[in-house]
Amino acid sequence: MAKTGPIIVLDPGKERTKGNEALFMNINAAKAVAGLVQSTLGPKGMDKMLINKMGQVSMTNDGVNILKDIGIEHPAAKMVVEVARSVESTAGDGTTSSVILSAALLDKAEKLVRKGIHPSAIVKGYRIAETKALELLENSAIDVAKGDRADILKKVAMTSITGKAPDVHKEFLADLCVKAAEIVEEDGFVDVRTKIIRVVELQRRIDESEVIEGIALNTGALSRKAPKRIENPKIALLDTEIIANKTKANSVMVVSSPEERQKIIDGERNDLTAIAKKIVDTGATAVFSTKVVRGPVLEYLEKHDVFVSRPMEEKDIENVSYATGAKIIRNPKEITENDLGSADLLERDTRNGGGKTYIRGGHNSTVATIVVRGETLQHADSVDTALDDALWVIKSVIEDGKIVAGGGASEMAVALGLSAYAPKAGGYDQRVISAYADALEELPKTLIRNGGLDVIDLSLALRAEHTKNKNAGINVFTGKITDMLEAGVVDPYRVKANTIKAATEAAIMILRIDDMLRATVTREIPDAPASHMAATYNGMAPPQMNERR
Ligand SMILES: Nc1ncnc2c1ncn2[C@@H]1O[C@H](COP(=O)(O)OP(=O)(O)OP(=O)(O)O)[C@@H](O)[C@H]1O
Ligand SMILES: [Mg+2]
Repeated sequence: MAKTGPIIVLDPGKERTKGNEALFMNINAAKAVAGLVQSTLGPKGMDKMLINKMGQVSMTNDGVNILKDIGIEHPAAKMVVEVARSVESTAGDGTTSSVILSAALLDKAEKLVRKGIHPSAIVKGYRIAETKALELLENSAIDVAKGDRADILKKVAMTSITGKAPDVHKEFLADLCVKAAEIVEEDGFVDVRTKIIRVVELQRRIDESEVIEGIALNTGALSRKAPKRIENPKIALLDTEIIANKTKANSVMVVSSPEERQKIIDGERNDLTAIAKKIVDTGATAVFSTKVVRGPVLEYLEKHDVFVSRPMEEKDIENVSYATGAKIIRNPKEITENDLGSADLLERDTRNGGGKTYIRGGHNSTVATIVVRGETLQHADSVDTALDDALWVIKSVIEDGKIVAGGGASEMAVALGLSAYAPKAGGYDQRVISAYADALEELPKTLIRNGGLDVIDLSLALRAEHTKNKNAGINVFTGKITDMLEAGVVDPYRVKANTIKAATEAAIMILRIDDMLRATVTREIPDAPASHMAATYNGMAPPQMNERR
């Protein structure tokens, strides 16, 4: 038989890291990501200063915002960032906690592997622990009674805002968010993404922010003559330039005499006026357009006291259409009364250059706009981020009707429940479930640490208090173990359940990798934009978790 050489399976250009070496490398990367956001957890968490390529500075302590902006390249680290993103898109809050928990689960797993437990045994144990943890969390959740709902929504919003927006405005901003959510609530569901519009307005005070039942537009009227206030406006929406019949874009006309020229001009004028008349005849009292309305059309509309907007973004036109029921018209010659939308009031704000229009109480009054005001862009931006979290926690509580005690209380309750359960599982499972419980305790510990408090003393005291009260947590402002429900520090059940699910998922994904094959040569892609090159990892596409957004 002929002698055969070794069978080459792998491309010799690939770099390979196997077994525990690959695992520990990935775990370290995940821990490094958590290290970036760890100090931001909780109301006493620190802020991060982010400076983009243009040198613009922003300050944030929102986990997902930090991770999205800093350009992480390691594949395992990217998986952890994806955890934050998926939590953001499903629960809108709890991103920092999820990243910390996934890294803690991996840290505990590393210790078990070093003691000889195989990663697949850890994966199995973590699955058991996750199911049990979710059950324990549900048991510790509190149903929101109908009569308490308004109060609880405000508390949950204030808890999520704490540390993200100035404390003095916490209550005011929480009220704004509750109001906006209640406007758009429909059959117990709150569509934060499409029905609550937020617009930012600068050089104003934060406490001048307001909620409008309807729409606030960053677009003013085209001319000063436009009416300032129209009750029950009839709204036409145009997504086209109004042109006369005979005018064709880029066309060249040969005109033989001045009379002929005048005839053409008069003809066009008549055409345009006829279109404007058609619009006025429908009963329209306001016209919003993506293009500039000019010449005879504008003159005619102004003469008939019709409000005409400056050119608007398509997105804004779509919002107005949604709120008022107006159809977006691309051929104004065919406009009819049925295409118009309605609202209670149209007002234009003539202060600060007059660039604002409010459409209050649209035909579809389930749209709300929060006008976020702030002195500077940084102020307004940080308030806007805080409002986003607040709206999402309100949504979760309206939809699920369940909350848990905050300040590390729910995590401690679940951790202790898991520790008590672990011995029943026996064998490796017992050790793995106990490790999972220890990882959960990292969350209250991080809150304590970030509060500048004594981690060992307080976490022991918290454990002890939990034998009597499952709602006990750390109030980082007083440094005391407190009943968090009584202190009004409460989180949505959904946020905490999502944290457990997403963190476990990421930890398990990383634990299952025992082989990393990496192309060592980065291929030159001719004319590829720089961003594309950055999106590859040494020639290998970075792994992606399914984006649920
Ligand atoms: N006064 C308080 N004392 C102790 N803990 C608090 C207090 N107020 C809020 N918390 C806790 O802070 C935690 C949330 O912190 P934070 O908002 O920084 O992180 P996150 O919600 O996990 O992530 P992110 O908001 O960045 O998406 C929650 O567990 C909440 O219960
Ligand atoms: Mg939060």
